[in-house]
Amino acid sequence: MCGIIGYIGDKNAVPIMIEGLKRLEYRGYDSAGVAFIQDSNVIFQKTAGKIAALENLIKEKDYFTTLGIGHTRWATHGEPTDINAHPHLDCTGKIAVVHNGIIENYSSLKKFLMKKGHKFVTETDTEILAHLIEDQYEGDILEAVRAALTQVEGTYGIAVICKDNPDRIIAARNGSPLVIGRGNGENFVASDVAAILRHTNQVVYLADQEIAEITLNNFTVSTLDKLHVSPKIQEISWSLDMIEKGGYPHFMLKEIMEQPTTLRNAIRGRLDFAAGTARLNGLNLQYKQLNKIDRIIISACGTSWHAALIGEYLIEEYARIPVEVEYASEFRYRSPIINPGTIVFVISQSGETIDTLASLREAKRRGACCLGICNVVGSTIARETDGGVYIHAGPEIGVASTKAFTSQITVLSLITILLSRMRNMSFEKGEELIRALQTVPDLVASVLQKNDEIKKIAEKYAGMNNFLYLGRGVNFPVALEGALKLKEISYIHAEGYPAAEMKHGPIALIDENMPVVVIAPQDSVYDKILSNIQEIKARKGNVIAIATEGDTHVASMVDDVIYIPKTNDFVLPLLTIIPLQILAYHIAVLRGCDVDQPRNLAKSVTVE
Ligand code: G6P
Repeated sequence: MCGIIGYIGDKNAVPIMIEGLKRLEYRGYDSAGVAFIQDSNVIFQKTAGKIAALENLIKEKDYFTTLGIGHTRWATHGEPTDINAHPHLDCTGKIAVVHNGIIENYSSLKKFLMKKGHKFVTETDTEILAHLIEDQYEGDILEAVRAALTQVEGTYGIAVICKDNPDRIIAARNGSPLVIGRGNGENFVASDVAAILRHTNQVVYLADQEIAEITLNNFTVSTLDKLHVSPKIQEISWSLDMIEKGGYPHFMLKEIMEQPTTLRNAIRGRLDFAAGTARLNGLNLQYKQLNKIDRIIISACGTSWHAALIGEYLIEEYARIPVEVEYASEFRYRSPIINPGTIVFVISQSGETIDTLASLREAKRRGACCLGICNVVGSTIARETDGGVYIHAGPEIGVASTKAFTSQITVLSLITILLSRMRNMSFEKGEELIRALQTVPDLVASVLQKNDEIKKIAEKYAGMNNFLYLGRGVNFPVALEGALKLKEISYIHAEGYPAAEMKHGPIALIDENMPVVVIAPQDSVYDKILSNIQEIKARKGNVIAIATEGDTHVASMVDDVIYIPKTNDFVLPLLTIIPLQILAYHIAVLRGCDVDQPRNLAKSVTVE
């Protein structure tokens, strides 16, 4: 989604902004622009398309400025054209605004401003902000922005500059993330730490309804109601190389290959062998409270929702607690039933997904204890939950989530063990499960070694236009996730189904042009899945099976097989998903797709 970078210091802001915008490319965008003050004028350059196009636009202009704001736009109101790209200016051209989010009352504000004589040149909701600020401006840009924002309904993360106040950037947030980066004789503002990490790891996260005035050596934060806020500086532990490709052609491949490490990080310090259970202090709940849980709701979007479904299978089977998994976008507008024993987990890699955040707030309003499973430390969801577990996967840049997914499953597995051991699970069983989890990073590493083999299979099927993914039990959500990976990055239509459900519809589609990926490890439903494979083969379908190492029987039935090592059923999804991630990756690359920035998708969906 949209990205913001702002710089004030003694260096040339233009290359800093361009580099920052490139770091935000992964979020997904369709146009980009910058505005800055040079020779006492606001200069802006913006264009549809990639940041390379913006660079082309400015490359021979020799700009030098020490203050500027930049933006990558993901279109909501108005097409992704040059004119609709941010920054947007007021009528006089002295105020420039970049904005993430959606101004919901923009059409009434626009009418009001047009009546007052303001001239609009774009179709965006953001442009009204520039005019509204102009309308309120009496010489102090901070107060003008503050006054304008009190009239605005909707979500925003904004950065504003003004020709008359060439020594400051104003930034404000309501619902769209924004951080201030503290440098040495320079300061930054960004929608995502990745944009500024090269320059500083000292950041302040703005909260909703907060506004900041950022100068060269200082920044102050207050609420829209003018209450002073003491900014809390946090140190980001991510290093620069974590947000770089490290020799891989794509972030997605790097992140797939990182999984043995990220899974080790997810379990580090959390396996309690002496007690045969998991240690999750971040939950902030006493054992007595955990024991009283009689129902769990998990709310999430996208890949995180698939992880939640796996959590449902695990928690119900082992801890015997009823679990309901909700699409966050549905949960927030339903009237969910929350009883005293209900606990709500929200899962979000970014910690900023607007629907997940809204579902968290709704659950809190209804009195639920809300826990988060997040990756980004200090993100809004992480801050607003009562407690939670970080997945510690490190920055995930590829739009298609891979390493965050397996780390989310790992954390859900730890939660399962903890809750089970407090109920019906024996020490021996608990110990068996934590030992199984401990082996996963090495097992995943062995599956990753099949990269070349899987690439060959990808070459066979890359020309197909439809795929079906089937799995049973806990591998059904894995099938959903495998299909999602393929469709996200290769634009091939792919559907995931519970294998037996195939007979109720998808079987009609099966022919030699519809490859079927069947997750068929030797687990408790192995025999059933073999029957499903027979049904596909009887209809001339091509089957790619994910099977247990050494299973020659399955191999003799299908067209292609990818083996995973034999392991405890409890951790199977952590292995079965790996070949599906790799398969999707290679198919997308073979089709010439932009794997890290698939069309229309955004890494962090901060608008409804
Ligand atoms: C977007 C991303 C997905 C992600 C989903 C939820 O759609 O492209 O990869 O799974 O948002 O994001 P979250 O950060 O809340 O896990």
